[in-house]
Order: sequence, then C-alpha cells, then structure tokens
Amino acid sequence: MSKVQVMDHPLIQHKISYIRSEEVGSKEFREIVGEIASLMCYEATRDLKLEDVRIKTPICEMVGKQLSGKKLAVVPILRAGLGMVDGMLNMIPSAKVGHIGLYRDPETYEPVEYYCKLPSDCDEREVFVVDPMLATGGSCVAALQMLKEKGVKHMRFMCIIAAPEGVKRLQEAHPDVDIYIGALDDHLNEHKYIVPGLGDAGDRIFGTK
Ligand code: PRP
Ligand code: URA
Repeated sequence: MSKVQVMDHPLIQHKISYIRSEEVGSKEFREIVGEIASLMCYEATRDLKLEDVRIKTPICEMVGKQLSGKKLAVVPILRAGLGMVDGMLNMIPSAKVGHIGLYRDPETYEPVEYYCKLPSDCDEREVFVVDPMLATGGSCVAALQMLKEKGVKHMRFMCIIAAPEGVKRLQEAHPDVDIYIGALDDHLNEHKYIVPGLGDAGDRIFGTK
C-alpha cells in the first residue's frame, strides 16, 4: 500500500489556512499556492538519493553530496495543477515538465481528458504529479493511469487539500504511488466539493468563475 504523508510543517499549515479564506483574491492565492508547492516539494524530496562528488572550493578539495538516481519531472493536472509548477521548479529547477489536461464533468463528476504532452524520456524519470485538490480522486486516478500507459513507472502525487474519499480511491487504484497531502479535510459535499476546502482551486488561481 502506498505511503500517505500529511504535511505537518507549520509554514505549510499556516499558508493553507490563509488561502482557504474567501477574502483572498487571485493574485495572493496564486502566489501562496506557489509557496506551498515549494515547501511541499522540499518535504517530499527528503528521500532522494545522494552520491559523493569531489569539489574544489577556493580553499581546498572536499567530498560533497549531489543528487543521484533518477532524473525528475513535474506533471501538473490542468488547469489548477499549473499553479504548483513554478513552486516545484524553484526547488528542482532541472526537472522537465509534462502536462495532462483533465476536467471534472460538472454533472457526472467523472474526469474528461483533453490533453497529454510529456517529456520523451518520462518513462525513465521520477514523476511528481501535482494538483491542488484531491476530491473524489477521479481526476488523479485517471491522470496516473494515462501516465502509466505512457510507460511512467515511478510516480508520486502531491496535493494541497485532500478528502478522505479521494485518498481511499487513489490508494485502491494506484497502491504503488506515494501521496503527499498539505491538509486532509473532512468530507465531500453533495456537489463533490471538499469540506471545508477552499472552493474551486482553478477558478481561484485564474480568476474565473
Ligand atoms: C479540480 C482539481 C482536480 C479535480 C479534483 O479540477 O484541480 O483536478 O477538480 O476533483 P476530483 O478528485 O473529484 O476529480 P477541475 O475539474 O475543476 O478543473 P480545472 O483545474 O480546469 O478547474
Ligand atoms: N475541485 C476543486 O477545485 N475543489 C474541490 O473542492 C473539489 C474539486
């Protein structure tokens, strides 16, 4: 079964509480989503492998550490996942970026695919799939399935807010994918929105409604 890590870092908790408020406008919402993504990326990359590297500083030679193992990629689920990309790249600037376009049908709540463009070597990379919201889990489960069909073998999923229903569905469908969550909320409402949540993440990031 996959690992589920709910972030307990005080800065992450503080920033998530801040953006939940309906008073926060798009500019600030977008900026803070980026900051949260950076902090979550920092936490979720704790176990990346290191190797020794010989360095000559201006003072002397030394053996330091550098990242080894698989190269990284970030794949946002459009649209709202885009809000997390720059924050991720602030931490892992050499990662490549793919895109998966999915929206949730407002009547059936099932995901509808409309786009997929991935780095050509994504099957050799460790892929961080990002989306601020994990509600029913339908979008994430479909995105991970699309990636697996393209040959991706190593994935992690990162979201800012999750509902227990989505976590369960995701773990059942993809037990090999570790899940990093900023805040685990209470439940879904009758429209499959996360309660208490923060509303529609895509609309709040892009100022649409
Ligand atoms: C939101 C969110 C997730 C999805 C979560 O996207 O960003 O992708 O809903 O819901 P689920 O877990 O029930 O599938 P939305 O469909 O609103 O599209 P958008 O990002 O283009 O606004
Ligand atoms: N998508 C969102 O943006 N918010 C929710 O609460 C559920 C799905």
